[in-house]
Amino acid sequence: MNQLGKFYITTPIYYVNDKPHIGHAYTTILADIMARWHRLGGDSVFFLTGTDEHGEKVEAAAAKAGQTPQRFVDSIVGTYVEAWKKLGISYDGFVRTTSPEHVRTVQEFIRRIKANGDVYKGQYEGWYCVSDESFWTDLQLKDGKCPECGREVKKVREESYFFRLSAYQDKLLEFYKANPSFLSPASRSSEILNRVREGLKDVSISRTTVKWAVPFPDDANHWVYVWVDALINYISAIGWPEGEGYKTYWPADVHLVGKEINWFHSVIWPALLLSAKLPLPKKVFAHGWWTADGQKMSKSKGNFVDPFTILGKYSVDAFRYFLVREMPLGSDGDFSEKSLVARINGELVADLGNLVYRVLTLAERFGSQPSGNPELESKLNITAIKERMAELDTFGALNAIWDFIRETNRYVNEKKVWALQGGELSNALYNLLESCRIISILLSPFLPETSARINEQLGVAAGTIADCRFGVFNGRVKKGDYLFKKVEQKQG
Ligand code: ME8
Ligand code: MG
Repeated sequence: MNQLGKFYITTPIYYVNDKPHIGHAYTTILADIMARWHRLGGDSVFFLTGTDEHGEKVEAAAAKAGQTPQRFVDSIVGTYVEAWKKLGISYDGFVRTTSPEHVRTVQEFIRRIKANGDVYKGQYEGWYCVSDESFWTDLQLKDGKCPECGREVKKVREESYFFRLSAYQDKLLEFYKANPSFLSPASRSSEILNRVREGLKDVSISRTTVKWAVPFPDDANHWVYVWVDALINYISAIGWPEGEGYKTYWPADVHLVGKEINWFHSVIWPALLLSAKLPLPKKVFAHGWWTADGQKMSKSKGNFVDPFTILGKYSVDAFRYFLVREMPLGSDGDFSEKSLVARINGELVADLGNLVYRVLTLAERFGSQPSGNPELESKLNITAIKERMAELDTFGALNAIWDFIRETNRYVNEKKVWALQGGELSNALYNLLESCRIISILLSPFLPETSARINEQLGVAAGTIADCRFGVFNGRVKKGDYLFKKVEQKQG
C-alpha cells in the first residue's frame, strides 16, 4: 500500500426491483468523482457499489414479471452494470447480496451479535412498508401511510428476532460527540441526534414470511430482514473477517447515501458494528433528492428520468457535469432538460470548450512555449479546491475550478493574445497552455472523457495533483474538434 493513505468509499446498494434512474446515477457519479480525486492524489482507493437483491419488494417485482427471483435479479443487475459502464463509473468492487460470500458473511455477523447477547426472540407487531422495506409503529405513520414515501403500509404480526438497539443509545451519542463529522452534512445531524436522544427501540431483524432472503443462522423458520442483510455488504465485499481487503480498507471513509436512508446508516449500522465489536465508519454523508420538473420522481407519476435516455441525447460528461453543478451536495435539486441544455451551452461550450479551442488554435499558429513568467498561477487556489474536496464539497470544488477557467478566458481577452508578438506572445502562450493542462487534471475526476481529450490535444500524459503547478508542460499540441457542441434549442 502506498504511504499516502487509503480511501474507502461506498454507495448504497440499489434495489433491483427496477432499472436505475438518475437518483441512482447521481450518488454513484458523486462517489466516482471522490474516488477518482483520491486516486489523483495518490491514495489507495477502494470504491464499492452493488445491488440489494433480497426482500419482499424484489420478490414481488419478480413475480410480477413472471420470473424466478434469481433470474429476474440477474437481468436487472445487468442494466446497472451497463449503466455504470456508460457513465464511466470506476468502481473497484461490485457487491451482490445474493452471492454466497455475502450470505455467509451475514450469517457469521449475526452469530457474533447473538453471542454478544444482543439478539433475542419475540413477537413483532406493527406496520411494514414494502417499498422502503421498513417497519413502522402506529405513532410513526402519517395519515395511516408510510411516513417516508406515503405509500400504503401493511400490518405485520409474526415471530421475530430482535436486535437490542435500545442498549446502544448512550454509546451512539458518545460516538457522535467524539466524531463530530460522522453525521454529515452538519445540517442534517440534528434530525438524527434528536431521534436518538428520544430513545431507541429494539428492532426486528428477521421475518418468518419473507423467504427471498438470507436464511437466519441456526433457525430454519427465520430469514434475515433485508436491511440487516444489506448493511453488511460494506464489510462482506472486502472480505470481513479475515480478508486483506478488510484489513486494508475498513473502516470506510465515507458511506455516501440519500437522505431517506440516513437513519439506517447513521444509527442502525453503527449500533450493529458496536455490537459486533468492529470499528465504525468515519462518515455517513446523506445527500438530497432530485425532483423532475418540480415533482418528486415516482413510477406512478411516470416522471422517472432514465439515464439511458439522457445519454442517448447528451454526452456522459455533460450529464456528470450537470448533476454536480446544478445541486450543492446535501441540498435538493430539480432535474430538467432545459437547465441541462442551458449549462451545456452556457458553460461547457462557452467557457471550457471555447477556452481550449482558442488556446490550441493560438498554440498551433504560434508554437507551444515551454517557459515564461507564471502570471496566471496566482489565480488558481489549489489549496481551496483540495479543502472543498476533503469536505466532499464537489459543488464548491467544481465552482472553484470553473472560476479559474473563466479567469483564463478573461486573460486571453484582456491581453488580446492573438495580437501579441515576441516575448509577450510566448509568455501568454506559456501561461495558457499550463492553465489548460492543470484544468484538465483538476477536471479529470468530474469529466474523465473530456480531460482525456484535452490531454490528447495538448500532447501530454494524464497528470496527478502533484502536477498542478506551472513549469511542467512539455506537450506537442495538436488541435482537435470542439470539446462540446452547442445544443440547438427548439423554439416555443
Ligand atoms: O434504499 N435523488 O435502495 P434504492 C437522489 N437498497 N438520490 C436518489 C434518488 C433521488 N430522487 N432516488 C434514489 C435502497 N436515489 C437500499 C439501500 S444500502 C445498504 C441499501 C439514490 O434502490 C440515493 O442514494 O431505493 C438513495 O439513497 C438510493 O438511491 C436508494 O436506492
Ligand atoms: Mg428507495
